[in-house]
Amino acid sequence: MPLTLRLHPEARVEIDPVLAERVDGLVEAAAGAVIVLGRPKNFGPRGRLVVSAEANSQIHMAPRCFFNGLTIRAAGGGAVRIGPECTFNGAELVAFDGPTIHVGRDCMFSSEIRVMTTDHHVIRDAATGECINPPEDVVIGEHVWVGRGVQMVKGARVGDGSVIGARGLVSGEIPPGCLAVGVPAKVIRSGIVWER
Ligand SMILES: CC(C)(COP(=O)(O)OP(=O)(O)OC[C@H]1O[C@@H](n2cnc3c(N)ncnc32)[C@H](O)[C@@H]1OP(=O)(O)O)[C@@H](O)C(=O)NCCC(=O)NCCS
Repeated sequence: MPLTLRLHPEARVEIDPVLAERVDGLVEAAAGAVIVLGRPKNFGPRGRLVVSAEANSQIHMAPRCFFNGLTIRAAGGGAVRIGPECTFNGAELVAFDGPTIHVGRDCMFSSEIRVMTTDHHVIRDAATGECINPPEDVVIGEHVWVGRGVQMVKGARVGDGSVIGARGLVSGEIPPGCLAVGVPAKVIRSGIVWER
């Protein structure tokens, strides 16, 4: 079934024609949104793709990705930028309220994954009124393996070649070439490499 497109005439949308024709799902773009979706390498039986960019927000997915269930949402000037050759088996990437989710090339996302740049609700210091949980970028390097059920919240940074174990929650920085597990995710081993 082809993609359903709901595109405002003032959005800039470039969708690879093979993707538009063969992938089940929905692409929505509001006025001033930018969506660029490259030709996927392949897509699985649960390959439904949902891509939604609200006003002045951006979503870019490079070519040669694989997806078997992927939802990407950007709003409030937020952006999602996915490098080439990434694979997704059930992930939701949500960039609301300004910042960007960067995903480097050749990352492997398992299932039940959620990545978000905002907590959606403000927490303030009671004395000063200062917001203590502003939105922040999430930066995932190249060739990162994100295990099943992982959550990445605002400010998460994962270095090239690292692995996040199942059900981990990343809220800070994981250096390159590390295995990290737990809530919050902590490095249990460094100097690793992994293979698909
Ligand atoms: C992270 C992972 C790859 C580590 O495997 P490993 O190197 O063989 O690690 P070990 O089993 O030797 O465990 C090392 C320690 O980390 C702990 N640990 C392992 N995985 C963990 C996880 N996901 N969460 C919390 N702790 C974990 C172990 O209990 C052990 O703790 P201990 O030293 O106190 O006994 C693996 O446990 C994992 O999470 N696999 C799931 C990957 C996945 O999501 N695959 C889906 C298909 S893409």
